[in-house]
Amino acid sequence: MTSAPIHALHTRRSMKFLRAPAPRPEELDQMLQAAMSAPDHGALRPWRFKLIRGEAIGRLADMALDAVKRSGDKRMTPEKEKSVREWLAGVPLMIALAQKIDHDNVKIPEQEQLLATGASVMNILNAAHMLGYGAFWSTGLGTYLEPVQEALGFDSLDYRFLGFLAIGTPACAVPPANRPDFREFVSDWTGQPA
Ligand SMILES: Cc1cc2nc3c(=O)[nH]c(=O)nc-3n(C[C@H](O)[C@H](O)[C@H](O)COP(=O)(O)O)c2cc1C
Repeated sequence: MTSAPIHALHTRRSMKFLRAPAPRPEELDQMLQAAMSAPDHGALRPWRFKLIRGEAIGRLADMALDAVKRSGDKRMTPEKEKSVREWLAGVPLMIALAQKIDHDNVKIPEQEQLLATGASVMNILNAAHMLGYGAFWSTGLGTYLEPVQEALGFDSLDYRFLGFLAIGTPACAVPPANRPDFREFVSDWTGQPA
């Protein structure tokens, strides 16, 4: 028999298209607190989250789309811009995700700081699902453009910007996810010659 928390882990899936209501304040607190339980070598707490809500989401769309267009990215056609705006118009909460780089730490490589931040985001995704919300991690919206990360307050010298989490109520019924069998990815190592 599968316990409820394990069932929740097994059934989480990303939901891109979202609508209001956003998580209530106490639910959002629980999601963000879950991020604090990520494994974190050296207790560096490298994760940083910026909450973007309400009219600020429209301003985010303007800022990011403008930056993408200025970058000369040919994929940003008028149709693409329209679909991005339509997507964001439904999303009640965006969280900008970043890793604060500890440049001087000789013991904890930056890769581990990145992994800890990724694990913290995973905890938010799982907590959102457990509370009945949908969430989607996106590195669209000009994530890899310096002006976007700077506009969000993440100086590129000190932060690695990791994209956005969209969070809200799924806009449609959550279909079951098609997941691979874990056995394809797992083997034993015995230390004995094969
Ligand atoms: C760091 C990161 C960035 C991602 N960026 C995008 C993205 O920009 N666009 C996209 O369609 N999916 C992106 N994805 C994938 C989706 O968030 C999602 O994981 C995928 O649609 C599979 O759904 P699942 O999580 O239910 O397996 C990203 C995932 C990760 C981990």
